[in-house]
Amino acid sequence: MNTKQDTTPENSNSGDPNAKTPSDSAVEMRELVLPNDTNTHGNILGGKVLHLVDIAAAMCAMRHCRKPVVTASIDEVQFHYPIPEGHFLLLKASVNFVGRSSMEIGVKVLSEDPMTGEMRHTSTAYLTFVALTASKSPSEVPRLNPQSDEEKRRFEKGRDRMEARRERRRQG
Ligand SMILES: CC(C)(COP(=O)(O)OP(=O)(O)OC[C@H]1O[C@@H](n2cnc3c(N)ncnc32)[C@H](O)[C@@H]1OP(=O)(O)O)[C@@H](O)C(=O)NCCC(=O)NCCS
Repeated sequence: MNTKQDTTPENSNSGDPNAKTPSDSAVEMRELVLPNDTNTHGNILGGKVLHLVDIAAAMCAMRHCRKPVVTASIDEVQFHYPIPEGHFLLLKASVNFVGRSSMEIGVKVLSEDPMTGEMRHTSTAYLTFVALTASKSPSEVPRLNPQSDEEKRRFEKGRDRMEARRERRRQG
């Protein structure tokens, strides 16, 4: 059996009464691109996008575990299109997968042209947050119970990425 495709109750935590679903903690955040946050081409700075991604993901992680969290890592992020001053940013964050104390949060970034309503998918980011105890050591998080086919797909992909990150850290 291919365990990577396995979404049985054991792997998707559907039997755990304390498990939470991705929609329990999902976050949507909107922002207007203002002149102070643009580069010399009049488009939003990449660093500003990453800042907003980090905030949306942190809120999502805290909503999942209801504990303080820190960003442990951000996977490679690509910027597919420039987002001009005056356009809107829409950030959609949800929990893809959880370990013992860590959570992979996926953030989809879209731009919206305020005059036409046209939406463009500009970036996707995967961040790992770790929940902390009061003494700042890693603290257990609730299991994740994906519901929809899309959430189950993200769960499987999130698990693969979490395993790959662990392997990369092991190899230094
Ligand atoms: C993230 C941090 C809490 C991990 O602490 P640690 O003592 O290394 O903890 P552990 O080795 O026990 O790992 C705890 C969890 O974090 C995960 N983890 C640790 N480092 C990671 C990394 N770089 N990327 C992704 N996950 C990581 C582990 O896989 C483990 O997950 P699990 O509990 O789900 O199995 C610690 O490195 C830290 O505080 N870093 C600074 C965070 C920070 O300040 N961020 C803001 C920007 S600088």
